[in-house]
Amino acid sequence: MEIYIAKEAGFCFGVKRAIDLALKTSNEEVKFNTFGEIIHNKQVVSKLQEQGINPIEDLREAQYENIFVRSHGVPKKFYEEAEALGLHIIEGTCPYVKKIHKLAEKYSQLGYTIIIVGDVNHPEVVGIQGWAEGIIYVVNSKEEAENLPKNIEKACIVAQTTITGEKWEQVLSEVQLHINDLIIENTICEATRVRQLAAEELSKEVDMMLVIGGKHSSNSIKLYEVCKKHCKNTYHIETINEIQMINFGNCDKIGITAGASTPDWIINEILNALKKMH
Ligand code: F3S
Repeated sequence: MEIYIAKEAGFCFGVKRAIDLALKTSNEEVKFNTFGEIIHNKQVVSKLQEQGINPIEDLREAQYENIFVRSHGVPKKFYEEAEALGLHIIEGTCPYVKKIHKLAEKYSQLGYTIIIVGDVNHPEVVGIQGWAEGIIYVVNSKEEAENLPKNIEKACIVAQTTITGEKWEQVLSEVQLHINDLIIENTICEATRVRQLAAEELSKEVDMMLVIGGKHSSNSIKLYEVCKKHCKNTYHIETINEIQMINFGNCDKIGITAGASTPDWIINEILNALKKMH
């Protein structure tokens, strides 16, 4: 059995930055909670909990005077609430997400409708929505874009950082038909794009693809979808335990990719287990 790893896989810049910042900042004197789980990876969250870094879902539950904002970002009102409670912010928002907040804030203040292409329930999208001051729509497919009001005069369209380029193009082609004054800001993250591209290329060459990542990780789910198109034998796994359940049958070539929130140690653990199996 031959094992191939996608050219780009695992921790992206923003996630690495947030984890490094959390670990560097945490010590005997500086303690903090994270607002929500720091990344969509249970194993990493557990590791941080061992060091006393616990997630909370409500600012009023804060155990310490510091609160860590994860890479997905938060709505503007979060900062006001934290200030009112006397909490000090440790800023882990990815700069690429921060850039989208600024776009949403700026163009909504100029009277533009904001259109976000992405999943309305994803924390990143919830955060972006919270920076727009006027009318805002979230659409996640061409069909949803078709249902947008036809009387929008001017709009700024942005993307959740982890959506596929294909989805962006489909939605954009629909939106462009109806809005004359349209500011187009393709905010799909380069890290996402290159991971999807590398996964797609590899999935065309192998008999089986393993996508390693949190089951709730949006970008891992997208990688799974991209690979599944080209390789029917694609599995989304989170930990080493799940490889026991997979029938490797006659697979000679196994491809591996991993979401932007999957740490190297999980990838290596699975890699080593595969090498031992065959
Ligand atoms: Fe940031 Fe892109 Fe990662 S937006 S958190 S570098 S996927």
